[in-house]
Amino acid sequence: ATERTLSIIKPDATRRNLTGKINAKFEEAGLRIIAQKRIQLTKAQAGEFYAVHKERPFYDELCEFMASAPVVVQVLEGEGAIAKNREVMGATNPADAAPGTIRAEFAESVGENSVHGSDAPETAAEEISFYFSGLEIVG
Ligand code: CMP
Repeated sequence: ATERTLSIIKPDATRRNLTGKINAKFEEAGLRIIAQKRIQLTKAQAGEFYAVHKERPFYDELCEFMASAPVVVQVLEGEGAIAKNREVMGATNPADAAPGTIRAEFAESVGENSVHGSDAPETAAEEISFYFSGLEIVG
């Protein structure tokens, strides 16, 4: 089925001017960018977005990092978009990411791993509405 997923190009990638190269990977995989904006998160906003990880040891570092430079938030649409996006991103830890994936090519570490993607339909819907209003999504 056609799905939508929330994608974030993270500070390590925007800092290195990799937005276009990462978007090309999405488009080559058949994903369509149907909403996109560049924003600067506060640490509090990052913390709210990643609230599910609040008890993890890396939570503070993660929130600090996500607020350290602009991010590009996007809605990707396509057939099986959630799984397809996760495939294109590669494993969370770039050391485990398959060749050709975004994280294998661009990520610096497990924390500074260039991209985020929703992991399931319910979280995709929640994460999309965290950043976008319906009017901003043009499928
Ligand atoms: P993401 O898909 O955005 O979801 C949660 C993020 O936490 C994850 O990508 C990583 O960037 C980060 N993360 C996961 N594990 C670690 C870790 N061991 N140390 C630091 N950051 C981590």
